[in-house]
Amino acid sequence: MKRIAIGPKNGLYPSLTTIVGAEPDDKPNWITIAHVGIMNHATGAVPQYLSIGLNRSHYTNKGIHEHGEFSINIPSVKMMQVTDYVGLVSGATTDKSELFPIARGTLKHAPMIADVPLSMECKLVQAITLGHHEIFIGEVVETFVDESCLTDGKPDLEKIDPLLFDFMKIDYWSLGQRVGLPWREGKTYKTDNK
Ligand SMILES: Cc1cc2nc3c(=O)[nH]c(=O)nc-3n(C[C@H](O)[C@H](O)[C@H](O)COP(=O)(O)O)c2cc1C
Repeated sequence: MKRIAIGPKNGLYPSLTTIVGAEPDDKPNWITIAHVGIMNHATGAVPQYLSIGLNRSHYTNKGIHEHGEFSINIPSVKMMQVTDYVGLVSGATTDKSELFPIARGTLKHAPMIADVPLSMECKLVQAITLGHHEIFIGEVVETFVDESCLTDGKPDLEKIDPLLFDFMKIDYWSLGQRVGLPWREGKTYKTDNK
């Protein structure tokens, strides 16, 4: 195998394509965000923290700063066109507030998309400026799932059919298939590879 150095590129793809909701100037606005992160594994009373990375130039940032709240919505592959549109135009110049039916949870300024498979309403915990970007870390306050996307009470990726993003070749992808069980497959590694 010949390994080629391609420069200090981000190789963490695919990532999820999400639509983040916030209320700059008290009006719902939506932004497509693929740079999302899982900050911890929440157990018991420990809150679940997630991060989103937004360029400082985006209009949505204003709403997150104004209210300290936002939502993260997971569109399915069949919502690819509108998801892409949301990432092409800015709420600063184009009204995106009526693109989706809106659902509300417990937070006042974290509009969610009523017809996506899964939405999370988040309370801003920390905002970090990193070069041209702001990293917003949010605590998940509540998660809502379309009941047709649940199996045995748990969100089912096959039913959610999330839209994946690749910024290396610049493509959208859909999921492949389930291949194994985490924390199980490795148990026989040593005996199988003597
Ligand atoms: C697939 C896709 C993924 C994107 N991911 C991000 C991202 O992670 N961070 C970011 O700052 N902008 C991202 N963008 C760009 C913003 O969604 C886009 O500039 C948007 O129009 C800004 O909206 P706003 O000004 O209304 O906030 C992405 C766009 C697309 C199409």
